[in-house]
Amino acid sequence: MKDMRGRTIDYMRISITDRCNLRCKYCMPDGIQNVSMDEILTYEEIVAVCMEAAALGIRKFKITGGEPLVRKGCSELIRQIKQIPGVEQVTMTTNGILLKKNLESLLASGLDAVNISLDTLDTKRFREITGFDRLDEVLASIDAAAESGLKVKINSVLQSGLNDGEWNQLLKLAKSKNIDVRFIEMMPIGDGKQCRPVSNQEILGKIEQEYPGVEKDESIHGNGPAVYYRIPGFVGSAGFISPIHGVFCDRCNRIRMTATGELKPCLCYQDAFSVREMVRAGRTDEVRNIISKVILMKPERHCFEQKKDVTESRKMVQIGG
Ligand code: 5AD
Ligand code: SF4
Repeated sequence: MKDMRGRTIDYMRISITDRCNLRCKYCMPDGIQNVSMDEILTYEEIVAVCMEAAALGIRKFKITGGEPLVRKGCSELIRQIKQIPGVEQVTMTTNGILLKKNLESLLASGLDAVNISLDTLDTKRFREITGFDRLDEVLASIDAAAESGLKVKINSVLQSGLNDGEWNQLLKLAKSKNIDVRFIEMMPIGDGKQCRPVSNQEILGKIEQEYPGVEKDESIHGNGPAVYYRIPGFVGSAGFISPIHGVFCDRCNRIRMTATGELKPCLCYQDAFSVREMVRAGRTDEVRNIISKVILMKPERHCFEQKKDVTESRKMVQIGG
């Protein structure tokens, strides 16, 4: 359906867990408490919400977390969402640790594409950023997923003075394989507020200097606000998601749901409406009403450039990355 500003909202991001097997500080700072399992929607409840969303014109779903693959049975959930009439695409955002192990069942479930979060190719820095020594598992998953024919995108968040020097090494993952490497500007959500973001304009400038002949690629690569560029000699593309330096809200097509069943019109603001009690009571018509209300409530734009106006106080892992 369309929102009040004429934008077609056909994409929903669904967090299925607030747990994660990594601890990236900007997303999941120390001391954060997980919600108890009975507060989290069951798969049956999630499918029931997806059915109502599909009836309102949501065509594409993204499964997120925390880390979605730490929750057992994720492939089965994807299979069920894919079967809902009107659903065109189900994709996932993962940190990649458990992807290789689950690849076969995810492919069998009909998963259409995967976004793998990776901020560094350096073992030591990987530990610094994520708290764990598991870079090799992520790299093995990236290779396995790309070889399987699954559409793979890498999401990298660069931080000034930490991993921004790695933009070229990260980009080279797109050189010989059909992988898009996307740079996401750090948003002032959770501990992202304290980080030192890097502007995508700056990264694009460096890429253009290093690779003459870079050209904007107008063909669509996914659901999101990313802008893509082709680099001569590269199989995959470079993508930029620039919430701070390239506000994309006029093209916004999404709503999101947290693992506890709260629907959010926009990542930036605290407004959220729970469908949990309704879906638990089988009041699906009320669930549909809430989804449509959330779509109609979507604000014109976020205010990430103005940190003090961001009203969302939860951490990214609690909302869904
Ligand atoms: N800004 C931008 N991206 C973020 N992520 C988590 N927190 C932030 C933030 N504040 C990204 C992770 C991962 C996905 C789950 O969300 O890097 O790619
Ligand atoms: Fe886990 Fe991804 Fe958050 Fe890191 S960014 S803590 S991998 S959910």
